[in-house]
Amino acid sequence: MSNYQHFQLQQIAGTLGAEVSGVDLSTQLSDDVIAEIRKALLDHLVLFFRDQNLTPDSQIAFARRFGDLDQHDFVKGLPDHPKVIRVLREADETTMNFGGTWHCDVTHQECPAMGSVLYGVDVPPYGGDTLFANQYIAYETLSAGMQQLLDGLTAVHSARGPFSPTGRAASYWKNMQVTPSEKAYEEVEHPAVRTHPETGRKLLFVNRTFTVRFKDMTERESAPLLQYLFEHASQEQFTCRFRWTKGAVAFWDNRAVLHHALGDYSGHRREMLRVAISGDRPY
Ligand code: SIN
Repeated sequence: MSNYQHFQLQQIAGTLGAEVSGVDLSTQLSDDVIAEIRKALLDHLVLFFRDQNLTPDSQIAFARRFGDLDQHDFVKGLPDHPKVIRVLREADETTMNFGGTWHCDVTHQECPAMGSVLYGVDVPPYGGDTLFANQYIAYETLSAGMQQLLDGLTAVHSARGPFSPTGRAASYWKNMQVTPSEKAYEEVEHPAVRTHPETGRKLLFVNRTFTVRFKDMTERESAPLLQYLFEHASQEQFTCRFRWTKGAVAFWDNRAVLHHALGDYSGHRREMLRVAISGDRPY
């Protein structure tokens, strides 16, 4: 157990992830506590807070201490809180859950989210854990030759896989407010290796959901290397796994981790509320 000044923190895995206790996120936290949470986030990449009691307003108020909030391009938010999206799979749904592949949030945007705050409203009695993977380590464990190759590559990202009219949203996520659209075919470019704007460390920045190819290459040419990187990036020793309980919160650094929500809870309902904090343009 590491002792921070304002809370206790227990690391849950070897390369990322820590549970924080002694903080009530529904209250107006002091600047000192927020600064220490930010430091813990940079050190551990994803923080978990159990037994919280958040309303959409207090979830927004906590996230806003770290920046402005994003509005999702394709998922409509709550009627009174358009920046809070409901991540929901009902007990009778059998299709893949939202977030059910390794990804970073919204890298189809020019400025993908800096972080996301996810709150467990209704959690299944088993299953539905979320996995996270450390992308600094993913980069650092590549050979020098592969690092050099990737340092010079630009990756193309698009939301067409999940959110185009023929994408997954068209047949999955029936109980979420998702609107597939032609906008999902738009492409943005990000460096395949980005430098974290706060730590200055390099990290691997491609993901299965949104990265479709490398710039100046075809999809077919890009696929073998991307496939290798997707597998490399999510290997077990780079990950941690969070078992949700009602009222738990996960706050991840979306610039430095991949995450994957498991869909192994058929017959049970899982409902989460998510807000995304605006990020910078990757470089
Ligand atoms: C997401 O990808 O943002 C959802 C993660 C989850 O439901 O655990």
